Amino acid sequence: MESYKSYSYLDLGAELDPEGYVFATYRVTTDLPMEKAAEAVAAEQSTGTWTGLSTLKDDVFEKYAGRVTSIEGDRIVIAFPVDDFSGRYGGVPQILSVIAGNLFGLAAVKGIRLEDAVFPQKFLKEHFKGPKFGSEGMRKMLQRPEKPLVGTIVKPKIGLSPEDTAKYVYEAGVGGLTNGKDDETLVDQTFCPIEARTKAVAEALDRVDEEGGHMMHAINISSNADDIVGLAEDVQSWGAREIMVDVLTSGFGALQAVAEDPKIKVPIHVHRTMHAAITKDPLNGVAMNVFAELVRMCGGDALHIGTLGVGKMEGDIAGGRKSLEACRGDELPFRKVMPVCSGGMFPGIVPDVIAATGNEVQIQAGGGVAGHPGGVRAGAAAMCQAVDAAFSGVPLAEYAADHAELREALAKWGSR
Ligand code: 6PG
Ligand code: MG
Repeated sequence: MESYKSYSYLDLGAELDPEGYVFATYRVTTDLPMEKAAEAVAAEQSTGTWTGLSTLKDDVFEKYAGRVTSIEGDRIVIAFPVDDFSGRYGGVPQILSVIAGNLFGLAAVKGIRLEDAVFPQKFLKEHFKGPKFGSEGMRKMLQRPEKPLVGTIVKPKIGLSPEDTAKYVYEAGVGGLTNGKDDETLVDQTFCPIEARTKAVAEALDRVDEEGGHMMHAINISSNADDIVGLAEDVQSWGAREIMVDVLTSGFGALQAVAEDPKIKVPIHVHRTMHAAITKDPLNGVAMNVFAELVRMCGGDALHIGTLGVGKMEGDIAGGRKSLEACRGDELPFRKVMPVCSGGMFPGIVPDVIAATGNEVQIQAGGGVAGHPGGVRAGAAAMCQAVDAAFSGVPLAEYAADHAELREALAKWGSR
């Protein structure tokens, strides 16, 4: 028998101070009436239990409990008082535990997806710094003010030595690419140790400079918590011009620690490997745009957001647009993140990607560069030519008439 007072978490239509609450929007699938399910969600994520409590006082409930402020169809909004997130140490681990946390295992819901989170501006500024460079800073470093950045992922991701990797990067840079990167699985394997790779790539980038190019290459430092900041400093001292963090496997705290290390003076490329396990189901999990927002808060300078339905990965076009907005929109008081479109990219589909994203994007291809019949340099040139054509609004076939590398790429892979 229930022996303690039970509270209602419903506060539908309440107009709450945006500086006082974090507003989380969820899509809920349930067999219960939506009000009941919404209350179960708010209860689990604030008072955190299923029954009335002898220890819960009215004033505590009033001040700290989550409130269901809106129910529209299967969308609910819960406002969590900002004090539930305050304090010096919690960071993103604490935020995610409150707005996502245990929800996905709740019996009251068959499915629940965190679709959006809006934080008070003061809270954001107090706890986060955002990117040190962002898209604008990267463009300055690369002396490329307007055109999309164009890059490659060194392929294959297994077996290339530091020298092989450096040779690939050099060829790509001379072919005209602005960005290179390690693949998400490459950190420190015996076939390609990170110190030797970083030094060899640094030397290759210097040679690209000498030939008039401007290029950076992201060295993947994703590693254990006690290593990652030191490793970031080390790779920088070995000549890395950009570093990469796999944010979901390393953790948002790791990204923030690296980004806020005052000694780190190079941009951070953020990869989202494993994200689809959490983001792909439209009825369950966490939407990619929420992760994009957290990455921007934590200081990522560039972030993978998918290919908006054009490349080899799952094509959630609406979701991709929301991620673009999280990277580049004005809602967050931080520098803008360079969105990265990657996965199954090749010259023939570049115009479609740019049509979907605009020019504020980094487009990159692995197989679409290294698979070119003329080799990496020709593959890089073909990607750059495709970007130039799209930037100038010239159809690819027309542009290819006097650009041999693009012509060969179109002959091998076609266009969309
Ligand atoms: C990356 C990503 C990813 C992509 C491939 C690109 O590391 O950038 O994992 O977005 O799928 O690595 O390779 P392809 O261009 O050959 O598909
Ligand atoms: Mg990859």
